[in-house]
Amino acid sequence: MTRWAGPLSGLMLVGALGCGGGGSKQEPAAARGVPKARYQPVPVVELQTRVQDLGWDEPDESQKNWAGFYLVRLRRDVVGDRAAVVAVRAICTYRGCTPHVLVAEGFVSCPCFGSRFELSGKLRKGPAPESLWRYGIALDKRTGRISVDTRKTYRYEKGEWSDSACFIPVARE
Ligand code: FES
Repeated sequence: MTRWAGPLSGLMLVGALGCGGGGSKQEPAAARGVPKARYQPVPVVELQTRVQDLGWDEPDESQKNWAGFYLVRLRRDVVGDRAAVVAVRAICTYRGCTPHVLVAEGFVSCPCFGSRFELSGKLRKGPAPESLWRYGIALDKRTGRISVDTRKTYRYEKGEWSDSACFIPVARE
């Protein structure tokens, strides 16, 4: 199994003009010139991060630009009213731009067409047709470190966020 543990492993930053469709004339000004990151497959990302390194509802974007996801320890997940750590795929479900986490505002925003998401990845406002996807996530019980499996995706609208492979349950403080 191929494993990656460091930055810059799989990044190919594409200075695309606009979103996935290739800069059509109908795209709004906000969509033009926004770099769109494409990632070569990084199957399993083994992080140094432990659950206690993550603040409550404060996404950690340090993996976003090289592995395409952010981590967040949610005080209340949208499924099951549980506290959990999740890995949210940082690719908008509309045209594939990279969304920005706006911690102070408490939501995630796509710069291209203005879709908004909860920190959990749940869709708040379109045009994105669905929530951000989540990746598989696990905790190494021996080391306490988190790993993320980008080969496995979980979609809220398909009822997949209840799958225990896409969240790490944590005690709510
Ligand atoms: S790609 Fe722009 S709103 Fe998602």
